[in-house]
Amino acid sequence: MARKAPGEGERIVSAESAAEDAPAEISLRPQRLEDFIGQSKVKEQLSIAIAAARKRGETLDHTVLHGPPGLGKTTLAHIIAGELGVSVKITSGPAIERPGDLAALLTNLEQGDVIFIDEVHRLSRIVEEKLYPAMEDFVFDIFLGKGPGARGLRLTLPPFTLVGATTRYSLLSPPLRDRFGIACHLDFYDEPSILRILKRSAAIMHVPADEAGLAQIASRSRGTPRVANRLLRRLRDFAQVVGDGTIGEKTAIEGLARLEIDAVGLDEVDRKLLRAIIEKFDGGPVGLETIAASVSEDADTITDVYEPYLLQLGFIDRTPRGRVASRRAYEHLGLVFNRKSSGQAGLWEETPQAESTLPSELPHGRD
Ligand SMILES: Nc1ncnc2c1ncn2[C@@H]1O[C@H](COP(=O)(O)OP(=O)(O)OP(=O)(O)O)[C@@H](O)[C@H]1O
Ligand SMILES: [Mg+2]
Repeated sequence: MARKAPGEGERIVSAESAAEDAPAEISLRPQRLEDFIGQSKVKEQLSIAIAAARKRGETLDHTVLHGPPGLGKTTLAHIIAGELGVSVKITSGPAIERPGDLAALLTNLEQGDVIFIDEVHRLSRIVEEKLYPAMEDFVFDIFLGKGPGARGLRLTLPPFTLVGATTRYSLLSPPLRDRFGIACHLDFYDEPSILRILKRSAAIMHVPADEAGLAQIASRSRGTPRVANRLLRRLRDFAQVVGDGTIGEKTAIEGLARLEIDAVGLDEVDRKLLRAIIEKFDGGPVGLETIAASVSEDADTITDVYEPYLLQLGFIDRTPRGRVASRRAYEHLGLVFNRKSSGQAGLWEETPQAESTLPSELPHGRD
């Protein structure tokens, strides 16, 4: 995801990449598939496909990695190239403005290279159409001149693997989606996996920490490695300034309380969002744009950044008529699940789980 400028409304528990994360993320990034913690299904799927491609001496099928921010898509793209023993060229959907930019990228690849396109759902239509024959047949058609004198030129490209990443799988156009042979969905990590990631990061960063201290961080990391690593850095500072430098249970609890992160990892912004649905809209259903306006946030940010974790916790539900706050959300905020809301929310809570837990899979899943 696009990196925010320093100070631009930064939230400590945001899963989005912030400027302060960049240097640490590079050093904390696992290099090999075996060091990539959790996501066992994705790892198995990739390791089989990579081994098979290597055995046949072929390129790996084009691969799309999708899921909420901070779960390891960029990390995996690097790992894929590393495991294949090839170079990776990095770009993003919005950076490829014209077909010529794409031609320049593709004609500079070496046999078998990986080209990583982040935010692949943001490619322009005309670039995307040029990408189809490149992905399918490794050719790129150029047209020179206009009118009757125009001629076409077909460039042959070296076989390559396109690895695309997106937080919005539902926004990928169907023809592009169909051209990825491998699709991997990354989901939030369970707490034991986050704890393992924290132990690994603490060791790399030489931060003294004990199991109980790291467990406190793990339970508030929103199932997101990026958040876990960021909290670890903040608590390292806290432990050095306030304590003896070690992240133990007491220090962790105190430090996290100062950051105003509650027991499930929510911060003030999440709570404000939930309170808006409950207090201003009687618990919903309320449309995304309406919520966005009422908390002065961008609708896309709510969909990409806030909502996935609130859905995961079961605090909100997505229904055809909008978002609904669940009984759990009321209870978490210490509010009474009142009659008016219970009538609506109770009804909507019967929405099939599949719909509410797989937001990214809904067709053009805005409202
Ligand atoms: N499975 C993992 N094991 C260990 N560390 C991980 C794992 N997944 C992610 N990380 C850590 O989390 C950080 C964020 O991961 P990454 O940048 O790959 O996320 P992303 O999915 O690309 O996010 P975005 O959608 O914002 O681009 C990485 O620097 C890495 O240190
Ligand atoms: Mg990324």
